Amino acid sequence: MRKKILMTAMAAVLAMSMAACGSSGGSTGGSEGDTGAAQQEASGTSANKDKPLVWFNRQPSNSSTGELDMTALNFNDNTYYVGFDANQGADLQGTMIKEYIEKNIDTIDRNGDGVIGYVLAIGDIGHNDSIARTRGVRKALGTAVEENGAINSSPVGTNTDGSATAVKDGEIEVNGQTYVVRELASQEMKNSAGATWDAATAGNAVGTWASSFGDQIDVIASNNDGMGMSMFNAWSKDNQVPTFGYDANSDAVAAIAEGYGGTISQHADVQAYLTLRVLRNALDGVDVNTGISTADDAGNVLQEGVDYAYNADERSFYALNLAVTADNYQEFTDSTKIYEPVSAQLDEGAHATKKVWLNIYNAADNFLSSTYQPLLEQYDDLLNLDVEYIGGDGQTESNITNRLGNPGAYDAFAINMVKTDNAASYTSILSQ
Ligand code: BGC
Repeated sequence: MRKKILMTAMAAVLAMSMAACGSSGGSTGGSEGDTGAAQQEASGTSANKDKPLVWFNRQPSNSSTGELDMTALNFNDNTYYVGFDANQGADLQGTMIKEYIEKNIDTIDRNGDGVIGYVLAIGDIGHNDSIARTRGVRKALGTAVEENGAINSSPVGTNTDGSATAVKDGEIEVNGQTYVVRELASQEMKNSAGATWDAATAGNAVGTWASSFGDQIDVIASNNDGMGMSMFNAWSKDNQVPTFGYDANSDAVAAIAEGYGGTISQHADVQAYLTLRVLRNALDGVDVNTGISTADDAGNVLQEGVDYAYNADERSFYALNLAVTADNYQEFTDSTKIYEPVSAQLDEGAHATKKVWLNIYNAADNFLSSTYQPLLEQYDDLLNLDVEYIGGDGQTESNITNRLGNPGAYDAFAINMVKTDNAASYTSILSQ
């Protein structure tokens, strides 16, 4: 018996060192039903290419066409994407802004020129969440221009005269009266080093816009709260111009009391759970829906169609969005609070601790660092996952992939790419 334990442990060590050297020899097998000692070394017993992998927040896709990268999404049998329903959320954001305008029609046109002017902060022109939000705002406000069957999502630069071709002047009818709506300006908020969704850039942009046509700006729309809050603090709070973001970060929700127009919750509490849950299920060798559409042994369960949707062809779980406005913001004040229906601790005996490598594309991203990661850090305890968090610089993929030097030391991976086209930079390391 002792000899068997020793031999199994030796085999495990050998397998671990093979995996660390990048062997692609496949699973060495034999760990199931073997001794506890062997099971503890499980991270060394399967090839990195066979370990559970979840992409999150940045869906593997072509950054120009939006086409999903199905090779990355089908990397192995335990590969999934976790994000949120970008189109449903984008429609919600557009509608929220339109309804605000309708409700405040008597006061919204600050200079009384008959044109309701808005400016738009774009996060990343190659990120499908950002593209969807730009489209959602333009669609609801009537400023969208279709191109090959899809709404043009390009930034217009400055368009105070309404001559831009990527958008058109829209119309809103309230109480039998028609108002013109114009996208006065829009820009991708990318800093000189290349970081996108850049809040500081948005704060500077609103300053520039306001100094040349500030009295024409009646509404501010932003692809996210990081940029929205930067614009709010730099200009729109003092000038009482309603500003709308996305993410429901705690600071943005609190600012609704001070005139921030509203935001969208992308249900980060559900996404963070799903991100780690699909890994936990694969590591436990149970059905992927355990603790998701069906209750687990601790009672955790989500409601499909209410909390999230699953698209099997896309191997993707999408959390559903909720609008957060002056009417309901009190329910959303803490964006880092875990979701009650999935807050039960898993039993360590039945779900032994496993090691996960997880990266955040940009440690300075407002949403990921102030909302998503704090949620992950609570769920990792509940799910008995020992997660190593790696923070990127938001600009270079290699800054992150360089820190995936020893994949053999982990049981599973959670990846948030800098660029949605770059999945292969990670899968090639795992396939070595
Ligand atoms: C969030 C943004 C964030 C981006 C990062 C989006 O879903 O809304 O705030 O910057 O993800 O990829």
